[in-house]
Order: sequence, then C-alpha cells, then structure tokens
Amino acid sequence: MKKHYIKDIARLENEECELYGWVHEIRETKPITFIILRDSTGKTQITIKKENYDQNFIEKLKRIHHEDVIKVKGKVIKSQIAKLGYEVIPSEIEILAKAKHPLPIDVSGKVEAELPKILDARYLSLRRDEYFYVFKIQTILVKNIREYLYKHDFVEIFTPKIIKFATEGGAELFKVDYFGQEAYLAQSPQIYKEICAGVFEKVFEIAQYYRAEKSRTNYHLAEFISFDVECAFYSYNDIMNLLEDLLKYSLSKTYEEAYDYFEKLKCKPLDLNYDFQRITYDEAIELLKSHGYKWGDDITQSALNILSEKIGRRFYFIIDWPTHLKPFYTKEDEKNPKITKSFDLNLANLEIASGGERINESEKLIEKLKRNNLNVENFDIFIKALDVSSPPHAGFGLGISRLLMMITEKKNIREAVLFPRDVDRLIP
Ligand code: 4AD
Ligand code: MG
Repeated sequence: MKKHYIKDIARLENEECELYGWVHEIRETKPITFIILRDSTGKTQITIKKENYDQNFIEKLKRIHHEDVIKVKGKVIKSQIAKLGYEVIPSEIEILAKAKHPLPIDVSGKVEAELPKILDARYLSLRRDEYFYVFKIQTILVKNIREYLYKHDFVEIFTPKIIKFATEGGAELFKVDYFGQEAYLAQSPQIYKEICAGVFEKVFEIAQYYRAEKSRTNYHLAEFISFDVECAFYSYNDIMNLLEDLLKYSLSKTYEEAYDYFEKLKCKPLDLNYDFQRITYDEAIELLKSHGYKWGDDITQSALNILSEKIGRRFYFIIDWPTHLKPFYTKEDEKNPKITKSFDLNLANLEIASGGERINESEKLIEKLKRNNLNVENFDIFIKALDVSSPPHAGFGLGISRLLMMITEKKNIREAVLFPRDVDRLIP
C-alpha cells in the first residue's frame, strides 16, 4: 500500500517520502534530470543532480520513459524554482511497470489528437488533465447531489434495467433476449420510481439510461448517467422549486470543493444568483414565431439555440407543454387537457432535465396508454400499483452527463463520459 500521496508533499517538507506514480514528463539537461511524477492526487518534481549518483543509478534512469510506473524514495525540499513548489531529491528509484511505446496519444496534451482517437485510447486519454479533472469533478458533484437529498430525507433506490415496457416512447428501445422473452433496456426508471414514491414518498436514483439514439449529435448518447427524483404530494411547481434549490446547493458546493480542478480546466463557474425563469411553452413559441415556429411544434435544438441567444448562459424552465409532446404518464391540466403539468429545464441551449406531475389514476392511465397506441397489458404492474391508491406525485430526470459537460465547458458529451456509447461506438 502507498505510504504517501503527492498531495501530502507540502506536509512532508524536509522529511523522507515514498511515492508511487506515473512518469508524466522527463527533462534532461547535462547535469540534471527532472522527472515530473504524477499520481491520482497531483504532480511533483523529482530532481536528480547526476554528479551525486553512481553509474548504476544513471543507467537505470536512462531506461525510464513517459508513463512508466515508478517508486521514488527521497527527501522533500521546498524549491524556489520548481513550478510545483516542492521537489524530491531521490535516494532510490524503482521501475515497477513499463509503458510500451510509441503511445497512441500524448498524455501531456501538448500534441493534439482528434476526439475519435482520444476515445479509442480512453485507457490512456483519461490520464490527461483535461479529462482526469472532469471525472474528479463528477464524483464531487454526485456526492453533493446525494448529500442534499439525504439531508431532505430521500430514499435512494436501484430499479431494474432490464424491463418489459417502454417508458419514454417506442422508437429508441434496445431489445434484449430475456430467456426467450422480449425485453428492453430501461430508457428511464420512470414507472418504478413512481411506484416507489407511493411507498417511500421521496425517492431518487442515479443510474444509466439506455436509448437507441441513431442521431449523431454532440448531446446524445445511447447510454448515459441520469439522476431521477420522484416525490409524493408534490406539484410540478414544488418539484421545480426542489430542482432549482438542489442545483444551487450542489453546484455552488461543487465549485467550492473542486475549485482547483475547475481552475486546471480553465472553467468559469456558472452564475447561480438568480431565480430560474419559468417561461410557458406558449411564450417560448411566441419568441420563436419569427423563425417559423407555431403552436404544437417541438422545441428543437435549433429553437433552443435561438432561445439561448436571448436568455444567455443561464438555467430556465419551459413549462406547460402540449400534451402530445410529453410522455403518456404526464398529467394533463384539469382546465385545459391540451396542455400538461410538465417542464424542461435548460441551461443555455441544452436540455438538462425534464419532469412534471404524473397521472395517478389507473382509468386515466389506461385511456392515455390506448391513445398512445401502447400495449396496456405490459403496464399491468403499474396499473395495479395505481389501483392501491397512488398519491399525487411529481418528479424529474436530469442528465448528469449533460450537466457535467456544461460545467466543464466540453463541446461534446462524449468527453464527459468515461466510456461513451453511441451509434458508432461500442468499444472501448
Ligand atoms: O427528457 P427525458 O427523456 O426524461 C425522462 O426520461 C423522464 N422519465 C424524466 C421524468 O422524470 N419525467 O430524459 C431526462 C434527461 C434529459 O433532460 C437529458 O438531460 C438527458 O436525460 N438525456 C440524454 N442525455 C444524453 N443522451 C441522450 N440520448 C439523452 N436523452 C435524454
Ligand atoms: Mg426531455
């Protein structure tokens, strides 16, 4: 087991340390060799003044290359010159694993590479600062989201990902041969989280969604991480309030705790000091009218591009969507069944979350399933759950991969997913 991590270097000033890590960089001058050693917590400089070492040591040094794993024992000293503030004067260096060269991409990021090549060599490109810090930020973000929900008495649930029905429309389903029966990969935990809200009242899940997306955009994947919430006795206004509060809490805490990582990525924190605007679908269409949009049209990516030019790099809700544009489980407005108690949350030109109030009476659900040409039998278990008195409830699903992409200022969602899956990519 490792004794010391590079983050502890300052604490070890003038003491002996034992470090293990990867060779990030080697610089040679005639009298000195500099090794930049990297571990999961940072980088430090190993300084070898050659005149102080025997021939054996110098020969070993010549065998060390980029990305080799080495062990370094030595003394930590404060340095005026080293960029990293400290340096280690080694008494011992051991090579633990060799990296086979040539490497498919340059880890230091000095040599550019195209995204497909970066994704093909994900085992290596994740070592690059520009990706490494994205996933360090993800872990802090997810922790803060969980923290908020635990503080508010939510129950964390884990629902099945091999299921019998489509929850978000039939077109984007992955079929699975389930012991000879046709099944699907879950597009979302929708039905199950609703059933659980009827038991635990406030539930959430962070898990994979599967969508057979054939479109090749910067925002769509076939598998991505989503964060789902469902609350009994909440209206859609209540759930929007919760979503806004949760994002403000978890993002501002993440900006605080991951300050160094955002600095390293040169990302500016989002301004969160405002009430998220709630624009009705009708108002959005009004804003889009001069671009040819009319009532009933979906708000497409190009429509969001237009809206974000007017609104800026902010979060805003579009609420009260036409019934035909929202999934079957969405509750209609009692006074006007043409619209639903639903919303999308956008950040600039990207949809981050969708949610709303749900139908909680079986007769209405059956009628809606039929209207949407869905097989009522497949939803038997959900209908039975509604039949034992399901309270009014509301919730949302938020694409964590999209949110992460936006806060780390990546242009493509593939950069914010460890091993992305899309229509062209199943490997690695
Ligand atoms: O908008 P969606 O389809 O909503 C639902 O699945 C509902 N069950 C949520 C609810 O509780 N009513 O998906 C939720 C979010 C989207 O807003 C978007 O951020 C993300 O998931 N998302 C995708 N992210 C990456 N690739 C895709 N193909 C995505 N499809 C949706
Ligand atoms: Mg949506």
